[in-house]
Amino acid sequence: MKPVSLIQFLIEERRAGHINTELSLLIEVVARACKRIAVATGKGALGGVLGAAGTDNVQGEAQKKLDVISNEILLEANAWGGHLAACASEEMEDPQPIPDMYPKGQHLLLFDPLDGSSNIDVNISVGTIFSVLRCPDDVTEPKVEHFLQPGTTQLAAGYVVYGPSTLLVLTFGHGTHEFTLDREIGSFILSRRDIRIPEQTGEFAINMSNQRHWEAPMQRYIGELLAGKDGPRGRDFNMRWVASMVADVHRIVTRGGVFFYPLDAKIRDKGGKLRLMYEANPMAFIVEQAGGAASTGRERIMELQPVGLHQRVPVFLGSKQEVELAAHYHREADGAQG
Ligand code: AHG
Repeated sequence: MKPVSLIQFLIEERRAGHINTELSLLIEVVARACKRIAVATGKGALGGVLGAAGTDNVQGEAQKKLDVISNEILLEANAWGGHLAACASEEMEDPQPIPDMYPKGQHLLLFDPLDGSSNIDVNISVGTIFSVLRCPDDVTEPKVEHFLQPGTTQLAAGYVVYGPSTLLVLTFGHGTHEFTLDREIGSFILSRRDIRIPEQTGEFAINMSNQRHWEAPMQRYIGELLAGKDGPRGRDFNMRWVASMVADVHRIVTRGGVFFYPLDAKIRDKGGKLRLMYEANPMAFIVEQAGGAASTGRERIMELQPVGLHQRVPVFLGSKQEVELAAHYHREADGAQG
């Protein structure tokens, strides 16, 4: 079969009525920016891009040089095309308006420019995550409140993994598709159409070092997996944890599995570890479109009404049966308490 480039795929999606020209341009621009981020991350020590930037982001986390570089690449690429009303990023407290000298579009773009950046210095996969919303019709200068739309309203979501290959995984709400960067020709080429995550799995991802801080239902669920074939589940489970959400989710999108970043006593006041608007929502959209599930343990992630641009939430996502069982234990525990 003839290779299908991202551009060809976007034209097909436009003809199918799934996206308009402006959204197609937006995805092209984001993909082009991510190619530049792939080049920057690939240079490593030779590009002088490793290590700390010496600054903190809005959440008080130390920024890596590549966090700052990736954020700038995405902002600069998206400023002038006329497809955006505004951008918001993990690395910036407030949304970034489109400069007055450029035309404005109808879309809002949110991104985590370099997820898993603690892994950069040890040469482990990192990624970019993005979510696209529609700017309300009557709004010309979008503010935080205009970004606070539930995940169900997302028009598009995607991530790019900078690993042994650079991969883009994308959804417009009509399936989840994967593109691999052909480094020789510089184009993303469709490598998997309509990805399906198996409903059952024998593999889970969680940071086990937080175990003692988890809530009782999480302790119960993981305890049963760890008990293996001698426990109530009657089979053995395997564990993986990359500590780059993009890489962990990509494994699930490729061979199934389930990912958890639950609430725990250390992060209870913050509401969770991962950010709703540019981590949990886009990943939930991608995973659901591939037949998986995404929950906070209490609610479907994409139905949450956001209350803050940098809001954090617990995240359970991946193979449907495991997400549902872990969420069932949480609801059962809440019912017993209430
Ligand atoms: P960051 O973007 O600040 O590097 O955060 C990484 C996130 C996510 O990618 C990963 O799943 C999780 O944090 C790792 O958390 P631990 O450090 O607890 O392993």
